[in-house]
Amino acid sequence: MTTISPSLLAADFLDLRSEIERLNHASNIWLHLDIMDSHFVPNLTFGEVVVKNLKHVTEHKLDAHFMVTNPEFFIENFKDVGLYNFSFHWEALTHHDRFIQRAKELYPSVGISLNPSTPISVIPEYIFSKIDLVLIMSVNPGFGGQKFIPEVTQKVRDLDALKKKLGLNFVIQVDGGVTDQTAPDLIAAGANNLVAGSYVFSHPQKDYTKRIESLR
Ligand code: DX5
Ligand code: ZN
Repeated sequence: MTTISPSLLAADFLDLRSEIERLNHASNIWLHLDIMDSHFVPNLTFGEVVVKNLKHVTEHKLDAHFMVTNPEFFIENFKDVGLYNFSFHWEALTHHDRFIQRAKELYPSVGISLNPSTPISVIPEYIFSKIDLVLIMSVNPGFGGQKFIPEVTQKVRDLDALKKKLGLNFVIQVDGGVTDQTAPDLIAAGANNLVAGSYVFSHPQKDYTKRIESLR
């Protein structure tokens, strides 16, 4: 079954507790937390103090997507807040191998995120056996509510073929512009985790579980 990761970026930040409680009955979801530093991307969201408090109101796995220039700083700072997955942008780092070793000591799951224009081929094949997830961005990171970039579907297909060739089991996550219109092709292409912000949180009656199920 496809895991859905509702992105809190689209939730009501003034009423986060209720927003998260509305997701408590959904099954097989991760809470996607977009951490932005106003440097790697032109936007700023929230930090470890907020995440630590979220942990008190949900039992869902916390899936953090770090859109930051200095992931080395953030892996240390977030180590005690209860994250399940830590995804960093490949583009932000030089010493990927060393970083992944450290991240694996601190988090149950480690993910590599790629911007739309970054090809899969930047990642050496041996690295895939060391990580748990690859996040394929289907919009340019920084903002919710953007239009899905259709060329990304082929990238997902290529990544799935590579995963099969290597005999690996990492999660293929897609993030940006995911709706009930774009999800079916992504699932067919091999994605097994879909991030969705505005599509989930724009339900007029706030029936987020319904939106989540419609993506599957
Ligand atoms: C964008 C973020 C996404 C964003 C997705 O930089 O990484 O997680 O919240 O929002 P939607 O689903 O509205 O495109
Ligand atoms: Zn994200």
